[in-house]
Amino acid sequence: MKNTLHVEVLLKTETSANIANLEVAVLLELRNIKPIIPETIHNTFSSAELTHFVKQIQVCEIENALDDENQSFFNETENQILDLDTYTIKVYFFKLDDSGLADDATSEDNTCKMRRCILPNVDFCGIWDSLIFQEPVKEILMHYALTGMNFARHNVDTNIISYNRLILLHGPPGTGKTSICKALAQKLSIRLSKHYKFFEFIEINSHNLLSKYFSESGTLVMSMFQKIREVLEYGDSLVFILIDEVESLTRARESVLSGTEPSDSIRVVNAVLTQLDNLRKYSNVIFLTTSNVTEAIDTAFTDRADIKMLINPPQELAIYTIFKAAIDELIRVELIVNVNESDKFDRLPVGKEFTNSATQQLFEISKESVGLSGRVLKKLTFIAHSIYIRAPQCNGIDEFLSALLKAVRYQKRQDDSINKVK
Ligand SMILES: Nc1ncnc2c1ncn2[C@@H]1O[C@H](COP(=O)(O)OP(=O)(O)OP(=O)(O)O)[C@@H](O)[C@H]1O
Ligand SMILES: [Mg+2]
Repeated sequence: MKNTLHVEVLLKTETSANIANLEVAVLLELRNIKPIIPETIHNTFSSAELTHFVKQIQVCEIENALDDENQSFFNETENQILDLDTYTIKVYFFKLDDSGLADDATSEDNTCKMRRCILPNVDFCGIWDSLIFQEPVKEILMHYALTGMNFARHNVDTNIISYNRLILLHGPPGTGKTSICKALAQKLSIRLSKHYKFFEFIEINSHNLLSKYFSESGTLVMSMFQKIREVLEYGDSLVFILIDEVESLTRARESVLSGTEPSDSIRVVNAVLTQLDNLRKYSNVIFLTTSNVTEAIDTAFTDRADIKMLINPPQELAIYTIFKAAIDELIRVELIVNVNESDKFDRLPVGKEFTNSATQQLFEISKESVGLSGRVLKKLTFIAHSIYIRAPQCNGIDEFLSALLKAVRYQKRQDDSINKVK
């Protein structure tokens, strides 16, 4: 059986194209792109039709069965030049909604209980590609969710085969849990566009939900869930519900029991849990939940989650990739100048020898950075520039790498002193 190559085509919002014709043009164009490499984006085309209708063509991943559970994302044969005849090519067309994630506009009161947006959305663009994990986290989540929706479309009896379409991601702060949820929803809205007419993303913040003012009124909870039900019942939709920091629901319950919260709020917590349970009867909803702690989460969630995935801070290869992307960006916008061709980083610092000293140095810095969260790592090139370059432009890779190393050490010192205070 041939492996599948996935290709995503972003259409210009103002145009309406004949998709069947366009697919033929895309397949022809792919043969003109030489060499064709997975995980690359193309935005200039030889065909006038594509230039008119298409903003970008992204050659995405090759789908291989993950038969070896130790198989790493980094072992995959990315960067290889593909022979298209040996692949089944799947093309997905999509447009981006540009209204962004916003407070629920239909809310009659001032309490902001949920934020929502149409998918695919401009706000979530590029998040999927920017998240780097050493383990195949993204791939597992995507296949899990696709399988869940496939079972749902085939009306598999959930009394016989249980699946709840509830994903729980837990792990330390800043490891990308919320971001993966958004990116996954975006990805699925692109990949499942033939099966559903529209996609919506709803974000419920447990903190807001339980805020004093809100918890005083159970009817507000009900009205929020009523709105969600309306979306679920409206035609052919697939709805993603993100419940961030789900542990606060549990904490609230505990504080009621210990007498530090008014007992009224337990009714609200219970109402929320019951309402969530009721929503699960709809087959067109996927729950994405996140937490910084696992022990404290109510079994109401942990038991129902089909997938509980621990998201760890990135390890050295993932860190290398995050740094490399950031430095490449600074080179692209000419904030690092005088970069020699021979200083180009290897895609990954693996293999017998490093191609150049820049790759080696960056890998050493990456090793020293282990323990920092993805959130911090993404800021480090900025910190390096602001504290240790202090000039509009950085002159050459060596200068930047030495600033980056100082920034890593600076950050670790900061983290240590915060931990000591704690
Ligand atoms: N593995 C990673 N690769 C690339 N970027 C990452 C990674 N982990 C985190 N980030 C970046 O860090 C920032 C914070 O991520 P996010 O808010 O999703 O983390 P979180 O796990 O939800 O944190 P918290 O537990 O504090 O809510 C985002 O900009 C995200 O892109
Ligand atoms: Mg988060």
